[in-house]
Amino acid sequence: MNLLILYESCTGNTELGAELIRRTLDKEGHRCTMLRYREIDPGGLEGYDLYCFATPVQSFAPLAATYRFIKNMPKLKGLPAFILTTGAGWPGVAHRMMAGALRRKGMAVIGARMLACPDNWPIGRTFDRRFYNRFTFPRRRSMRKTQDFAREMMNKAYRFRDGIKVKQTPHILWPTPTLPMGFFAVRGMLARGFGKRTVDADACTRCGICVETCPVGAVRLIDLPEFDSSCIGCWACFNNCPEKAILTNICKPETYYGGIEDPEKLLKKVGL
Ligand SMILES: Cc1cc2nc3c(=O)[nH]c(=O)nc-3n(C[C@H](O)[C@H](O)[C@H](O)COP(=O)(O)O)c2cc1C
Repeated sequence: MNLLILYESCTGNTELGAELIRRTLDKEGHRCTMLRYREIDPGGLEGYDLYCFATPVQSFAPLAATYRFIKNMPKLKGLPAFILTTGAGWPGVAHRMMAGALRRKGMAVIGARMLACPDNWPIGRTFDRRFYNRFTFPRRRSMRKTQDFAREMMNKAYRFRDGIKVKQTPHILWPTPTLPMGFFAVRGMLARGFGKRTVDADACTRCGICVETCPVGAVRLIDLPEFDSSCIGCWACFNNCPEKAILTNICKPETYYGGIEDPEKLLKKVGL
């Protein structure tokens, strides 16, 4: 089987989840290609047997950049796809929104799973930093379950190819309490939750990491980083700034999330 894993990741958690699936299936003899959404031309998506769409959860919805990519990609009629999300709590309507968007592109959505990861939302970390620092996420058990999930998706894809009926995930957007938040999140309205943003001119080294890590290209480095109105409020610039030079009036710089400390060690724990 030829699998394409597409992912976006603001601070590396989803990248780890995607890598976990890639290595697990690679080891079992499948051909896996792993790319960021912004690294692929949406016109060149055809030619794979199975697709994995991976995304972080933000405000109970998929990351706005991922959702927009799916909405704007061409139809992939009759091809099987599955969803991997990473979140620190609850996926809310993220799976349903992703499944709905993929179905509208003609894809058969055969499964969805969330891998529990550390929280990269600095406002949340203001309150639960002690909790998140005490435990190592993702847990080994949940990584193992994600591996089993990937294998199950492969088996389903084989059955799907042979014309055997496989169960698909629901795609109807039931009116759950988190639906309005998901609606605002995918439209990029989370940007308002960032507060008033300033750049510490003395600390900033103009390294450009904020430009590189922004999933929607909303940061430009002129003299100092400048943020335009396409910002989706994902906090990638704040979290990834090595000098902690991006400041906001709603939380302290030390609430940043620096990513999983040693991803290779975690992957080793599950035999990869
Ligand atoms: C603005 C914002 C909102 C978030 N909302 C949720 C949420 O609703 N549910 C959840 O489980 N995690 C939420 N998170 C946590 C992230 O989904 C989680 O840390 C994820 O693993 C980050 O993945 P990444 O490192 O690949 O970007 C949120 C994070 C941010 C920055």
